[in-house]
Amino acid sequence: MTELTLRATTDDDDFREFMSASYGVFLQDPRMDEIDLIRKFTDLDRMFGFHDGKRWASTAGAFAREVILPGGLTAPVAAVTVVTVSPSHRRRGLLTAMMRHQLDDIRSRGEALAILFASEALIYGRFGYGMACSSATLKGQVRELAFRPDVDLGDGLVTAVDAETLLSCAPAIYDQATAQKPGQMARTGPWWESWIHDNEERQKDSGKIRFAVHHDADGTVSGFAIYRPKSHWADTGQPAAELHVQEVRATHSRAYARLWRYLLDMDLVRSVTCYGAAVDEPLRYLVADQRALQCDVSDGVYVRLVDVARALTLRRYAAPIDVVLEVSDEFCPWNSGRYRLRGGPDHADCENTTEPPDIAITARDLGAIYLGGVSLQSLTAAGLAVELTAGSVQRSAVGFGWPTAPSVPDDF
Ligand SMILES: CC(C)(COP(=O)(O)OP(=O)(O)OC[C@H]1O[C@@H](n2cnc3c(N)ncnc32)[C@H](O)[C@@H]1OP(=O)(O)O)[C@@H](O)C(=O)NCCC(=O)NCCS
Repeated sequence: MTELTLRATTDDDDFREFMSASYGVFLQDPRMDEIDLIRKFTDLDRMFGFHDGKRWASTAGAFAREVILPGGLTAPVAAVTVVTVSPSHRRRGLLTAMMRHQLDDIRSRGEALAILFASEALIYGRFGYGMACSSATLKGQVRELAFRPDVDLGDGLVTAVDAETLLSCAPAIYDQATAQKPGQMARTGPWWESWIHDNEERQKDSGKIRFAVHHDADGTVSGFAIYRPKSHWADTGQPAAELHVQEVRATHSRAYARLWRYLLDMDLVRSVTCYGAAVDEPLRYLVADQRALQCDVSDGVYVRLVDVARALTLRRYAAPIDVVLEVSDEFCPWNSGRYRLRGGPDHADCENTTEPPDIAITARDLGAIYLGGVSLQSLTAAGLAVELTAGSVQRSAVGFGWPTAPSVPDDF
């Protein structure tokens, strides 16, 4: 068998081959337009895998991004991506070796957190990733999605715009709208380019990408929508177009509501689907018949605390918290130990201690509760965290929770 070398990508051609190999394992044809766009926000030395001298046998990588944490502070995060092992090399430990290499690398770069989307939910728990953020798919028949009569749509106006106009206003609206939403990622110019990129493959199931913006009565641009309408006619001749909504953001609730009305009232459209929504997406509360807007919840983003003490210091806590955690971490043993965490809405401090522990928890489950979307109380009820001091779990669960559900709409 050919010898495998673990190495990073070296130049643009090497990166194209690397990405093409990963598309293949994901059972897709490589798309050079997408690969060249991805290259714009890729550090070549963070894309690595096993190479047999001729081709890539496995791939993995991470983008350097910033994520909003509970409390509104942003932190650098390794957004893990393109994890593949070719069918010819599967189940021989290549993924395990890449995870080892990557987590050591993330640690040496000083990033306290790693996050990823998993193609299959069983893969990453063993490497200390906890499911931290659910992802909702909202679906409905638009004619059943009238809003409650007390919804205020304001007196703004929604208009269709081209990509250039969208990009002139959407980044500022996005930054303002997401400033307090855990899990949202800062988007640089190339990320925006990639986010609204279109090609035949993307159009196949959901139609060409389109944009709309909301203007307040005084002309201020205060919201945007990114969507894809797919034309369709039923056998009976009735219009049956589908609307696929990628993102709706607004700086105030009236603009948000009016943008959704614009989308749901589009002529010829009969059904709507919105992927990657937050489980507490406000649209769910605007519709009069809540049952008509189906909400399918599945696992979204997984969080890995690479440096427990620093990660716990970076976020804020919904209520005052003072707790000693006994953390176990098999895959990243440098995290195993006892920590005293003190914090609240405006500060946090975490350091090693020899005081008796209040709660025992794995790094994986600490990752799960980190963004405030999974309850420490629920994990304790499941026996995954252990309460050692009576009352400590309920008190700490309130601190670790957050009023806004985390969500990560970005694809990476
Ligand atoms: C998922 C994938 C990367 C695993 O690679 P691999 O090299 O076969 O994994 P390893 O040999 O290191 O496996 C490590 C352990 O994880 C388990 N495992 C690996 N993939 C798994 C899966 N999809 N489901 C359940 N368990 C899995 C292995 O059984 C092994 O368990 P063990 O230690 O108890 O024996 C590979 O199957 C793949 O490329 N799949 C298609 C693309 C994909 O889904 N990538 C993930 C993107 S998020």
